[in-house]
Amino acid sequence: MLDKPCVIAVCGKGGVGKTSISAMIVRDLLRHPENRILAIDADPAVGLAAALGVAAARTVDDVRNDLISRMEGGGGAGKAEMLAMLDYDMLSVLEESKNLAFLAIGRPEKEGCYCRINQLLKDIIASMAQNFDYVVIDGEAGIEQVNRRVMAHATHLVLVSDPSVRGLNVAQTIYTVAKKALFCEYAGLIVNRVSGDATQDGLRVPSDTPYLGTIPEDDVIRLADAAGRSLIDIADCEASEALRACLEKL
Ligand SMILES: Nc1ncnc2c1ncn2[C@@H]1O[C@H](COP(=O)(O)OP(=O)(O)O)[C@@H](O)[C@H]1O
Ligand SMILES: [Mg+2]
Repeated sequence: MLDKPCVIAVCGKGGVGKTSISAMIVRDLLRHPENRILAIDADPAVGLAAALGVAAARTVDDVRNDLISRMEGGGGAGKAEMLAMLDYDMLSVLEESKNLAFLAIGRPEKEGCYCRINQLLKDIIASMAQNFDYVVIDGEAGIEQVNRRVMAHATHLVLVSDPSVRGLNVAQTIYTVAKKALFCEYAGLIVNRVSGDATQDGLRVPSDTPYLGTIPEDDVIRLADAAGRSLIDIADCEASEALRACLEKL
């Protein structure tokens, strides 16, 4: 067991391959049966559960909304009682099988100032993370989440882009924001879905963003996704080998 969990946040524009790459990172970590891994789907658009082949039950936001309703209902529970309930409820959102646990953040239905609850959830997730060696967070598209909620505890930031200039710009912006807000120890950019042997220059990778390498367009991933199969069980393929090479640099 590691002293401190390695918390890997996967971020980037929508549709660039964050969920696929998160699932393949988990796949790689699972090769070592002693690793205890927590996968977190932090994207309200969800998808990581399917990519990992796990069943998603309640989300953290279900717990949050229940708590808000209870508070607004004025059930009269004291603060200590509330906290105990919340702790218990949080265990109910954790799906565990062997050395992999899964947690989905969900989508907040209730906007407004519930800062204290949000802070509480962030703290509980952070303390849960202490029970694992690796935490892999499949992030929400864009930069919204980078300095909020779970992301604040990331130690490693994996920026993902496709070869498009727009995708690369989003990655660069996230990197800039993260550098200011996150205190990530390590960060790097992976360019996904690259065909042919494109070079870093050919790809217009921003020069101020640390670069890890490319992952090719790979039918193994495309077909697994099209068939709704988990990426945990795929055979080694060009994409999984390329990802491993990128992560070694990180
Ligand atoms: N290297 C790859 N080769 C082929 N298809 C890929 C690759 N990476 C991602 N895809 C496909 O691209 C689509 C979007 O990927 P996804 O991981 O869901 O992106 P995101 O989570 O960033 O929205 C999916 O259909 C996925 O199968
Ligand atoms: Mg996704």
